[in-house]
Amino acid sequence: MMECTDRHCRVLHRLLSRHARLYTEMVTAEAILHGKRDRLLGFSEIEHPVALQLGGAEPAKLAQAARIGADFGYDEINLNVGCPSDRVQSGQFGACLMREPALVADCVAAMRAAVKTPVTVKCRIGVDDQDPHHSLRALVDACAQAGVTVFAVHARKAWLAGLSPRDNRDVPPLDYELVYALKRERPDLTIIVNGGIGSLDDAETHLAYVDGVMMGRAAYQTPALLADVDSRFFGAPERDIDETVETYVEYVAAKLKEGVPLNAMTRHMLGLFHGQPGARLFRRHLSENATRPGASIQTLRDALAYLRAPHREAA
Ligand SMILES: Cc1cc2nc3c(=O)[nH]c(=O)nc-3n(C[C@H](O)[C@H](O)[C@H](O)COP(=O)(O)O)c2cc1C
Repeated sequence: MMECTDRHCRVLHRLLSRHARLYTEMVTAEAILHGKRDRLLGFSEIEHPVALQLGGAEPAKLAQAARIGADFGYDEINLNVGCPSDRVQSGQFGACLMREPALVADCVAAMRAAVKTPVTVKCRIGVDDQDPHHSLRALVDACAQAGVTVFAVHARKAWLAGLSPRDNRDVPPLDYELVYALKRERPDLTIIVNGGIGSLDDAETHLAYVDGVMMGRAAYQTPALLADVDSRFFGAPERDIDETVETYVEYVAAKLKEGVPLNAMTRHMLGLFHGQPGARLFRRHLSENATRPGASIQTLRDALAYLRAPHREAA
């Protein structure tokens, strides 16, 4: 998720779940070819398994970008066929590619030829006036013919004419049934459903029909839910939030020494204690202080103290 799932966010999420697959923000092929690669693609070993999501529509450039991503060590290269922003439309990639399954197939074929790493696709069910029963299958079948076996489907259309990117994440109705039907009809493909899934209970319901669940906003805004993912879905021990926080504090302290600003790391923690006593003051302390010059690890420790002394919430 752009502006959200940067490397610091992913470290926090990985500490909360050892097994959930994490995704980068979308990075355009163009940026990778011409930009500062270490800044765009660098990540910590602990983040595995982590997927690099690419944006683009030119097979040769995507292939090159995929190769660079694979060399960095990403576990999966994912192509974005779902982003509805104006910038993306003018560049002819993202959701508008739902109209061009043959071109998307050429893109993923070129990417697959360039890397051994699995190449996957994230898409919508259609755009604008497309019939989603046709557009979703056309896109998936074209990519499957090119060898892609894993699809994450945001189960709503993008309305490119007239809706903001934000509204495009909420307004077009969700059609989970269509995604379930896709799995029934293409049982050999791995189908992951995405869109509006707010809890692990919801996730479990979907898993009766599809192979996986992708959570965006819920995971970002209330990351503590990730702490139950391992025990609930992977038969692994439950994660301890206090331990996780302490490990993240150590990570933050180390990165501060490398010159990373405090807020770049603590901003991903703002929803971590959602609903707990002291959470509001924790959040407020970080919002007010983490961007100040001189903000240090003590700023974070002071914020965390509100959770140990929640009576101060009333202050
Ligand atoms: C701030 C923000 C940034 C996003 N950036 C991306 C992105 O870079 N790539 C992508 O495939 N989807 C992106 N999305 C869409 C989400 O991945 C997801 O498909 C959408 O929010 C619906 O799922 P959710 O209801 O679980 O959030 C973004 C969503 C938000 C809110």
